[in-house]
Amino acid sequence: MLSWLSSWLPGSLSKLWLWAVSLGLTLSLLQLIRLLSRRQKLLQGLKSFPGPPTHWLFGHVKEMKKEGELDKVLSWTNIYPCAHQLWMGNFIGFLNIYDPDYTKAVYSRGDPKAWDIYGFFLPWMGKGLLVLDGPKWFQHRKLLTPAFHSEVLKPYVDVFVESTKAMLNKWDKKIQEDKCVNIFPDVGHMALDSLMKCIFGRSSGSQPESDTKYYLAIGELTLLMQEPMAAFQYHNDIFYYWFTLHGRKFLQACKVAHDHTDKVIRARKAALKEEEEQEKIQEKKRLDFLDILLGAGDENKTKLSDADLRSEVDTFMFEGHDTTTSAISWFLYCIALNPEHQKRCREEIQNILGNRDTIQWEDLGKMTYLTMCIKVSFRLYPPVPQVYRQLNKPVTFPDGRSLPEGSLVSLHIYALHRNPAIWDKPEMFDPQRFSPENSSTRHPYAFIPFSAGPRNCIGQQFAMMETKVVTALCLLHFEFSPEPSRPPIKRLKLVLGSENGIHLNLKKLI
Ligand code: HEM
Repeated sequence: MLSWLSSWLPGSLSKLWLWAVSLGLTLSLLQLIRLLSRRQKLLQGLKSFPGPPTHWLFGHVKEMKKEGELDKVLSWTNIYPCAHQLWMGNFIGFLNIYDPDYTKAVYSRGDPKAWDIYGFFLPWMGKGLLVLDGPKWFQHRKLLTPAFHSEVLKPYVDVFVESTKAMLNKWDKKIQEDKCVNIFPDVGHMALDSLMKCIFGRSSGSQPESDTKYYLAIGELTLLMQEPMAAFQYHNDIFYYWFTLHGRKFLQACKVAHDHTDKVIRARKAALKEEEEQEKIQEKKRLDFLDILLGAGDENKTKLSDADLRSEVDTFMFEGHDTTTSAISWFLYCIALNPEHQKRCREEIQNILGNRDTIQWEDLGKMTYLTMCIKVSFRLYPPVPQVYRQLNKPVTFPDGRSLPEGSLVSLHIYALHRNPAIWDKPEMFDPQRFSPENSSTRHPYAFIPFSAGPRNCIGQQFAMMETKVVTALCLLHFEFSPEPSRPPIKRLKLVLGSENGIHLNLKKLI
């Protein structure tokens, strides 16, 4: 075939063609050898851990897709106690763990993220906190921690109230036509709107065209970024970014997002310089994340570079809106299925607020029953169902089995939170499990929606605060009941979503 084709081309072109083809074949062969030797190494490391049979090309992906990824893995927890092999295709093999002691053995250390998964974050987020490791991660974590101090978070309550009220008004109008509302996209808009106000100090609502473009690009990136992980044909960068429409759209959206963030950072820096803002910044009523990041410096007065600033803003944009969207939407679904708990939460909120229709920081600590219910929904529907590491040193588990350095580990938070070996009646919506007395007897690694150890979620207080404010206002304004004809179908992406949205029936209360 090759000689036939080259006979049709003029002499020098035909030689070039043969060279190109030979080079392509050699590179492909080298890549195959590399992948096969990696597979051998991973298999060797995982040899003490049996797992379900694998497909020769898809590993476990096809079987999980067929039967619902999350619940398929849950069914395997009955066969393989603590952990099992999990293959995404034939070359990426994880030890999938869902036991608290196993979790503690790995996640109490600071092993780096698994690049096979987190590499997909780079084109958008660059090297932000989520993907960094080593001394640079430590430096950034220290610089960014003050951004989540309660004094900084307090004024954001007003932001959440404002964005939630806009969403409630939207629902007021929608139920005049149909009492059944797909809440997921509206919660998503509300969460993104709030986050833009918290990061940049303004929303997309009444803003210039570039803000609206940015807002749309973030929505698109969030969807696009989650796709290639499951599709192994996208696991080659050149193929993905050059030859797929999906990859090209992803790069275009990244450009819009980067241009916007760079522009805002430049403008804010210029303003700071002009007004000698370092002093004036303290006078502002509400500092946004960008103010804090621009002001952040360590004891040597080392500041974040512009590239670091952009990566951290982009990381917060992703980590901060899709996760809370999932958290709030699945909470409302849970509470719709459990009217007695819904009623009790509403009564608690009414007692705290009296005849106020807004929420203040001081109210949040009093919402104890609501907090317990939020925790149950985080257990049953963890917004981040799976997180991944690559071991930088060997680990030995309490039962004596071990994994060598370089092994890939997937912590399956969904299976951990529903593991029948840990939770009695795991499907039950039982807020009492999260009462202060019962919480103290639980294994510290049994309930970890925000992960655990040094790489836990830096935004958890922000997330809990937003979830409480939004859900409290929702419960005050509407009664929620499930729509039996459209139950949500869980969808495992980076964040827990639903194939068909979350449709609930809404009844207006005030
Ligand atoms: C309910 C909402 C949230 C949940 C369930 C959640 C969960 C998680 C989890 C499980 C991790 C560990 C990820 C991993 O190891 O790969 C994580 C990390 C992280 N989260 Fe969240 N998150 C939430 C909201 C937020 C918010 C609102 C922000 C910021 C505004 C945020 C920022 C981050 C960052 C920057 C990291 C990386 C931390 C590090 O590695 O040092 N998250 N989150």
